[in-house]
Amino acid sequence: MKKAIVVGASSGIGKTLAILLSKNNYKVGVTGRRKNHLLEIQNSNPKAFVIRSFDLTADDNASKLSELTKELGGLDLLVLSSGTGKFNKNLEYPIEQETLDLNVNAFTEVLNFAYHFFEKQGQGHLVAISSIAGIRGGAVAPAYNASKAYQMNYLEGLRQKTKKLKLPIYITDVRPGFVDTDMAKGDGKFWVASKEKAARQIFQAIRHKKDIIYVSKRWYLIALLLKVLPNWMYKRM
Ligand SMILES: NC(=O)c1ccc[n+]([C@@H]2O[C@H](COP(=O)([O-])OP(=O)(O)OC[C@H]3O[C@@H](n4cnc5c(N)ncnc54)[C@H](OP(=O)(O)O)[C@@H]3O)[C@@H](O)[C@H]2O)c1
Repeated sequence: MKKAIVVGASSGIGKTLAILLSKNNYKVGVTGRRKNHLLEIQNSNPKAFVIRSFDLTADDNASKLSELTKELGGLDLLVLSSGTGKFNKNLEYPIEQETLDLNVNAFTEVLNFAYHFFEKQGQGHLVAISSIAGIRGGAVAPAYNASKAYQMNYLEGLRQKTKKLKLPIYITDVRPGFVDTDMAKGDGKFWVASKEKAARQIFQAIRHKKDIIYVSKRWYLIALLLKVLPNWMYKRM
């Protein structure tokens, strides 16, 4: 049986993916702050799940993940799904800071843990959920878009680094458009994927050891469009 940790599995994409992994011969460590949500997952199949409730913006994520790995009995796959993004119309710094603490600092700490663990072990798969939002800046939540750009860039750096190791270590960047979760707020949403569809596509990407995927797949077209849209046009949007 393979071992996985899904960081940020108390709701949304992470929860649905954790359940899908458990149905595909993975024992899964699930984390998040809301312990009651994690217990609910564990109670659905006590043998399949190990839970750890902690806030990623507090201290020492590496020790907590290391303990969870020991309790699972190993680690083949780590998925980082925790993230935050709040509308920040008035550009209040505390909101920006909250985003940076989780999406940049904690993100980096978790990825560093996984990279070193897999390097030492000689194999492993690291998956992180970034966003299509990382492709361009965004007025509604500037730190969110910027943090997602950081994540995409950081993952690319790690992918290059692991290539040099010549070991079976894989880095997957999942870039959703809209997925029907608590995080997908506001109006004007389109091409909204269900959590189940998102989890299925991520699971396929894990099986095929993909570098980058868009969820759902047609968001690749939006990504292409965003990349070529000239600045003079983009800044008016
Ligand atoms: N939904 C979309 O349309 C969409 C689009 C693009 C990208 N994404 C990305 O997809 C990822 C998953 O989001 P989702 O849509 O599934 O939303 P979600 O249901 O709100 O899930 C977010 C997860 O992050 C965890 N989390 C938040 N703050 C945390 C903290 N301080 N410490 C530890 N865990 C924390 C939450 O658990 P607790 O609250 O229990 O801690 C929850 O499990 C995020 O990175 C998001 O940016 C989502």
